[in-house]
Amino acid sequence: MENLSSIIHGIHHVTAGVEGAQEDVDFFATIVGQRFVKQTVLMDGDVPIYHLYYGNRKAEIGTVMTSFPYKQAGVYGRRGSGQVKITGYTVPEGSLDFWLNRFETKNIRHGAIEERFGQKRLSFFHPCGLEFELVEDGNDKRDCFETDEISESVAVRGFHSVTMSIREVDEQMRFFTDVLGFRLKGQEGPYYQLELNEGGAARTVIFKHEPDVPQGSWINGAGIVHHVAFAVDTDEELKKIRHHISGIGYTDISDIKDRHYFHSCYVRSPGGILCEFTTSDIGLAIDEAEQDLGSTLMLPPWKLDEKEQIFNYLEPVVNPQIAKVK
Ligand SMILES: [Fe+2]
Repeated sequence: MENLSSIIHGIHHVTAGVEGAQEDVDFFATIVGQRFVKQTVLMDGDVPIYHLYYGNRKAEIGTVMTSFPYKQAGVYGRRGSGQVKITGYTVPEGSLDFWLNRFETKNIRHGAIEERFGQKRLSFFHPCGLEFELVEDGNDKRDCFETDEISESVAVRGFHSVTMSIREVDEQMRFFTDVLGFRLKGQEGPYYQLELNEGGAARTVIFKHEPDVPQGSWINGAGIVHHVAFAVDTDEELKKIRHHISGIGYTDISDIKDRHYFHSCYVRSPGGILCEFTTSDIGLAIDEAEQDLGSTLMLPPWKLDEKEQIFNYLEPVVNPQIAKVK
């Protein structure tokens, strides 16, 4: 196998630590207008931490942002290099004026409309400080999710890209091109844009060369992206990836983990960013009907013994969308 481009299909999900759970729901479900599609818990460690998922109408792969609200546990990460710095979503062409006005009206910290790599984009910030951007992409024909305030003509489609803060580009480039099979599409100043296979939405990764930015935290904690996941089809493909990557010498690739909604393994890329490979053959609808996604806290079978303790510990969250989806 030359590289993994025939096995990986672009971004599966992005996972970040945030502060309060309800604040996070309000940001993604109300401000960004993604559908709140799953309430579950972090599957590692002893302390109950929510794991919240937001996606398009059917929670399709490549649209799902997930978060660990860490305010209750009081754990905070330090932003820096070696992390995903910006998570990008696609929006329809001509929609950024709507979004700029929306961020103004809703008091959401944001930047100005800029153009890079031939696409207009607008940065904005989660209340915990995480940076996001909206990128106009007329070629992205994926489904969306509409809300009372956000119509199909402007709604977020799914991921455009992640932008990684990298102190030294060369070895990160080697990992993404030689191992994963991305190719360098262009460079503008400190930004390097890479694409996988046919490129475009969810198949784009950007490096921002930031040699003077100190290393950020690798922990689970509020205010930082923990990892980006890339989609594979099946367990067989996941095993092939693990075999291939460890054979090259990245032997810190993790065991295959059962995340209930998918199976995963993780490897630390040379630039410091944790990359996950995630199967696509299970999905969020295994324990809730599609119209009920996100309506209540769901636990994997091996956490059901702790159900009462977890429900009592975690602050309740209100899904503002559930009545509308039904
Ligand atoms: Fe993940």
